Amino acid sequence: MNETLNTIHTRFSCRAYTDQTVEMEKLQAIAKAGLAAPSGQNKQPWHFIVVSDKELVGKFGTHGAPAMIVVLKKSYSTTWVDVDCGIAVQTMALAAASLGLGSCIVDPPYLLFEGEEAGSIKETLKWPAGYEFSIVLAVGYAARSGNPHPLVASKVHYIG
Ligand SMILES: Cc1cc2nc3c(=O)[nH]c(=O)nc-3n(C[C@H](O)[C@H](O)[C@H](O)COP(=O)(O)O)c2cc1C
Repeated sequence: MNETLNTIHTRFSCRAYTDQTVEMEKLQAIAKAGLAAPSGQNKQPWHFIVVSDKELVGKFGTHGAPAMIVVLKKSYSTTWVDVDCGIAVQTMALAAASLGLGSCIVDPPYLLFEGEEAGSIKETLKWPAGYEFSIVLAVGYAARSGNPHPLVASKVHYIG
């Protein structure tokens, strides 16, 4: 197996992290990988907020990760915006794995953006106008190893 396939097949959703701070260069490399993701008509209808304030990260249901990347999607953009952001977040998850980091795609508690704190959280995150929440990628050093989910070969069929 080559290095890329090895990264794809060893990545797992990490739900326990050490306290080790994630180096800024690694977070930047992950965000840059997200920017390299393909998107419909190359619209790149996303914005990434890289957060390494552990207390703030903790509010997003991130399993104790010391860092996260909040993926925002451009409002009223393209038909493919959710596909585009999905590709971007998985590209970043693979980049994190390639750098020896654990990660987990996380859908935070919905009250975070609808409850009393919603305004102040967006302000703290310097949320750009015209963007909505898409998904979060929790990032950190894994506290324990994990197994990738079993592959279901029957979900593929071949013609010809
Ligand atoms: C859109 C999406 C939302 C997810 N939300 C959560 C979540 O809120 N909390 C969590 O622990 N894992 C979440 N996951 C991770 C999945 O549970 C995980 O990918 C799945 O169980 C397969 O396991 P694996 O990633 O280890 O292969 C999410 C994954 C995706 C793609």
